[in-house]
Amino acid sequence: MELALAARLPPADAIPGRLHQAMRYSVLGGGKRVRAALVFATARTVGLTESTVEAAACAIELVHAYSLVHDDLPAMDDDDLRRGRPTCHKAYDEATALLVGDALQTLAFQVLAGDPSLPSSPAIRLRLIALLAEASGTAGMAGGQAVDLAAQGRRLDLAQVEDMHARKTGALIRVSVLMAAACVASADPAVTAALTDFANPIGLAFQIQDDLLDVLGDASTLGKATGADQARSKPTHPSIIGIEASQARVRLLHDQALAALVPFGLRAEPLRSLADWLLNRSF
Ligand code: IPE
Ligand code: IPE
Ligand code: MG
Ligand code: MG
Ligand code: MG
Repeated sequence: MELALAARLPPADAIPGRLHQAMRYSVLGGGKRVRAALVFATARTVGLTESTVEAAACAIELVHAYSLVHDDLPAMDDDDLRRGRPTCHKAYDEATALLVGDALQTLAFQVLAGDPSLPSSPAIRLRLIALLAEASGTAGMAGGQAVDLAAQGRRLDLAQVEDMHARKTGALIRVSVLMAAACVASADPAVTAALTDFANPIGLAFQIQDDLLDVLGDASTLGKATGADQARSKPTHPSIIGIEASQARVRLLHDQALAALVPFGLRAEPLRSLADWLLNRSF
């Protein structure tokens, strides 16, 4: 995955070098690559090779990296540490971090439009572009981030928090599964529906885990600061229903996700083991 991403990023020595270096700094050398892993595991479940979906996995990781660079900016979460290193705006500067986000986002769509390794069908490419655009925009990540900022210091009920999570984090997780499924020449709507039923609870559980780790985790293992949500008065599951009820919610969502995989039988084993890993993660 690192090589696949590195090959699609602009060279560090090409003009504008500082921007290219900051893009490579923000994408390479860290990150769990959960979204890419979901793309690959889904590909195996629907009978595709990893090389068919590699560019789609890269596109999602590029958008995700951009979302983190902007999420860390002083105007947003104002964080100094990401993936065990100074955040992009600390290692470079704020203007560069803004441009890194802009350029990573457009690079993701350039990859989907033109990468020769993807299925050549224009209909499939168009679908991939539409899926990623929707998941990244106001109906997805960017919209969820707006809700997150507006919610700081306010009381939200659990349904509102879960709606925020579904947008800011769930959308990119879900689309990782759906973009892999969309690379099948004649995608079966029943398969897509079952995969959606798997991905939705996984996406929500992922952000609840992130919020639990912000309370219970260890900064050196996580590679980012802990206690940040409380410091910024973010409404989260731990702050609203407590640690144990949040952990129980994650387990319930995990069970729901696994139930959606039953129709796939053994073919869904890669998705099952990924879901199990996510349930028990400590970083
Ligand atoms: C962190 O995502 C931000 C959230 C959406 C919760 P990850 O935990 O996947 O971050 P990396 O890619 O591993 O650094
Ligand atoms: C991030 O949520 C969601 C994004 C869309 C980037 P957080 O703000 O909780 O992510 P971390 O904890 O900084 O990684
Ligand atoms: Mg945030
Ligand atoms: Mg943050
Ligand atoms: Mg967090």
